[in-house]
Amino acid sequence: FKRCEIMDKLFLIGFMGSGKSTVGKKLSLILNTSYIDTDSLIEETYQKKIPAIFKEEGENAFRKYETDILHTVTAEIVSTGGGIVEKDENVKWMQKNGVIIYLQSNFDEITTRLEKDSFRPLWDKSLADRRKLYIKRVIMYEQYADLVIDTTQKDIEAIAHEIIHEY
Ligand code: S3P
Repeated sequence: FKRCEIMDKLFLIGFMGSGKSTVGKKLSLILNTSYIDTDSLIEETYQKKIPAIFKEEGENAFRKYETDILHTVTAEIVSTGGGIVEKDENVKWMQKNGVIIYLQSNFDEITTRLEKDSFRPLWDKSLADRRKLYIKRVIMYEQYADLVIDTTQKDIEAIAHEIIHEY
């Protein structure tokens, strides 16, 4: 595991519903550092909810906003959208500016969590297509992560402390 310099950021990656935002917030409270979630920053900056961006402008437009936003974040702890790894330039930027932590969660757990959670445009598809997306993404998350944290059956506090311990 790559030890990081003080100035490095901490990027949380992982599938929708893997807990990136809750864990990010918790980490920033424990470590007393700044925190941002790229999805919220997109909604704030472009004054539009993510489902509306997907519906009215399409995924490509969203990906462009996501890349632009990622390149402007100043916070030390950054939770990203599940599709941040779709663009090489995003991955390169994260690698250059910090440590990438993958919050791993299995498909069934993700499914349960997303049932209760808010609407995600890319989850609004058949079971087969959801699985396909999950498998495709997991390969990328594993490939790009400096650190993998298994979140199965763990509460937010435990996950945050595991990250701090490993970091
Ligand atoms: C996406 C994940 C979402 C959001 C958008 C697209 C994806 O973020 O960025 O709906 O491509 O996986 P979360 O991972 O926070 O749900």
